[in-house]
Amino acid sequence: MKTSAEKSVQHDTSICFLNGNYIPLKDAKVSVLDRGFIFADGIYEVIPAFAGKPFRLEQHLKRLHDNLTAIKINNPYSNKQWQVIFTNLISKNNYPDTDCSVYLQVTRGVAKRDHVFPDDSTATIFAMINPLLPANPDILARGLSVIIREDIRWQYCNIKSISLLGNIILKQEAAENNADEAILVRNGNVTEGAASNVFIVKNNVIKTPPKDKKLLPGITRDLIVEIANQQGLNCIEENITEDELLTADEVWLTSSTKEVAPVCFIEKKPVATGTPGQHWAKMYQLFQEYKDSLK
Ligand code: PDD
Repeated sequence: MKTSAEKSVQHDTSICFLNGNYIPLKDAKVSVLDRGFIFADGIYEVIPAFAGKPFRLEQHLKRLHDNLTAIKINNPYSNKQWQVIFTNLISKNNYPDTDCSVYLQVTRGVAKRDHVFPDDSTATIFAMINPLLPANPDILARGLSVIIREDIRWQYCNIKSISLLGNIILKQEAAENNADEAILVRNGNVTEGAASNVFIVKNNVIKTPPKDKKLLPGITRDLIVEIANQQGLNCIEENITEDELLTADEVWLTSSTKEVAPVCFIEKKPVATGTPGQHWAKMYQLFQEYKDSLK
């Protein structure tokens, strides 16, 4: 008997990329000895594509390359070859005019189980396309609600590791508390969300934690900082204490799938007035204008 989750995969008609071949997602198979399955020995990327065009592709490919280098896997393709794979996937899945996201995963490949890296394994390369829905206007108007949790994850959160157990446990806790995200705190300082980066605004100053090993260098985060600087807004990259988070005028979350979203409730208490702030509204508009400028 198949579960409903298995059936939905069975009926998926999308085309994915697996080790050089474009095949139906439902037929894509990887060995149980793949080190991605056995050890979560791999990294991933999520790249949004608006109207068929991968967004901030150069930055995503640089992070992919940095991540592969960090875990000592050779980058299997040049940037040009990656771009061709993404473009093919977008057109084969009929997304050339609408928004979607590319999920890409590279693992160290198949080998006899041994913690030490094998000398001769071939990386497993997988990519698929997911629909990317525009932010729900009702949710943007209401704002997100979050919980705060201790950052229980490892010491290399700058690597986009497929080992996401810490993140999913925290995100699940958010869901069980009817919240959209968990904002994580390590040694009294905000690091990031379980699947997003964090910004606050206080007295017209926009602030986000500096990039280090405690958080993922989000592509959306970097773009928000870039836009703020271009616009002459006061934006600083400094530690945010838990107290600063709780007393902020505005709190935002950023990610490739959320773009920039306002947080209006933290642990069920309102952020300032409990409605999306004016700085968020301005940044949201600037972000949309930036997207439109690339079309
Ligand atoms: N996650 N921090 C974490 C832990 C994340 O998982 C993500 C994104 C971000 C934001 O990064 P970016 O702006 O590059 O998307 C920050 C993706 C979307 C995911 O896992 O699906």
